[in-house]
Amino acid sequence: MSKLRRVAMIGAGLTKFGEHWNLSFRELGTEAAIKAVENSNIDGKEIEAMYIGCMASGRFVGQEHIGALVADQLGLNPIPSTRVEAACASGGLALRTGYLSIASGEHDIVAVGGIEKMTEVTTAEAGFALGGAGDQETELFHGATFPALYALLAKVHMKQFGTTEEQMAAVSVKNHKNAVHNPIAQFRKEISIEQVMKSGYVATPLKLLDCSPISDGAAAVILAEIGLAKKLCENPVEIIGSTHATDSLALTGRKSLTELNATKVASAQLFHQTGLTPKDIDMAEVHDCFSIAEILAIEDIGFFKKGQGGPATEQGKTALDGEIAINPSGGLKGCGHPVGATGVKQAAEMFQQLRGEAGGRQVKEAEIGLTHNVGGSGATCVMHAFRLMENR
Ligand code: COA
Repeated sequence: MSKLRRVAMIGAGLTKFGEHWNLSFRELGTEAAIKAVENSNIDGKEIEAMYIGCMASGRFVGQEHIGALVADQLGLNPIPSTRVEAACASGGLALRTGYLSIASGEHDIVAVGGIEKMTEVTTAEAGFALGGAGDQETELFHGATFPALYALLAKVHMKQFGTTEEQMAAVSVKNHKNAVHNPIAQFRKEISIEQVMKSGYVATPLKLLDCSPISDGAAAVILAEIGLAKKLCENPVEIIGSTHATDSLALTGRKSLTELNATKVASAQLFHQTGLTPKDIDMAEVHDCFSIAEILAIEDIGFFKKGQGGPATEQGKTALDGEIAINPSGGLKGCGHPVGATGVKQAAEMFQQLRGEAGGRQVKEAEIGLTHNVGGSGATCVMHAFRLMENR
């Protein structure tokens, strides 16, 4: 890392997440990008390159060639603009690609975006498109869509550590509670453990309210080399670490089903890179595509011991005012999960939180935050760490 230049976020912009019947795919992306440019106080013409996370626009809206499309929509031709795909971690990987393009010295200012519009197709079609992030031959072909794969992980965790359905429900209850204070969230309503327990099974033991929804939305952040960031922005948020790890697409290729090894590797590398430990982190946006996924994440990153993620959540240790605030934005469960946008939304949340701009969901005295974005059932993990740079 020492040879790399330092990079910071200087602006963020988000559309509302949810069902958008009046905004097209390209309009969502444009709205988020314009908001990010306005928020950063730069002239859009200063952007030298763009990186756009998008998982399956061909399947969802019949549009490919997203990099050039977004540059064209924004009037930024002929700058280089690249689509980045890593399933539900597309946004996180776009952020890392943008980060590396500045860290390497190639560019000074870039825009990173994430877009997905998933509600144009039926739930069955969306489930099939998403299922392509698993192993098509050994899983999806046999009908194993994502709720089924995570249900399998949940069952093994329950059997091995005694994790309960109520503990998983507590993840959804907390994330919905945080989302109430997030203006972009798809579900701005509190739910109770009882409501989660009574919602219908999607894939036993996961119920409707254990699942992230199908969503439309876009997010964007503007990155700049640190010296420039200090000149352009009063309170830039530095990206102090960036890591990426992979694993087998199919669950059958994994050594263990009670952990995601890509998360363990990416987080160990992130702590090594930054010199931090899990105890130094004040808040984290983790990939809660299903309630069990948040429990796996907080254990695999090292915030809690293996098997303790469920009890910790039930005891309020991951609440906004708990030991460590997990998913202050409302996470994928409360905010919604437009897959390509999620990883960028996580970074935008860190930008707002660390600058004290998160309103009712503000994590008090937060200095260091972390994001964790997973693709598929854990075959990709992209993580970043962030710290506020006070510009005096
Ligand atoms: N959480 C809370 N409420 C949800 C919801 C969710 N995940 N999904 C749908 N709802 C609500 C809808 O708002 C709707 O409420 P309303 O009747 O008040 O309008 C109701 O439940 C029925 O919605 P519907 O769209 O018919 O649900 P569905 O049965 O078509 O889809 C799931 C539900 C869980 C199957 C779908 O959301 C899903 O597949 N989620 C997982 C997505 C995924 O795999 N992402 C990638 C992760 S790796």
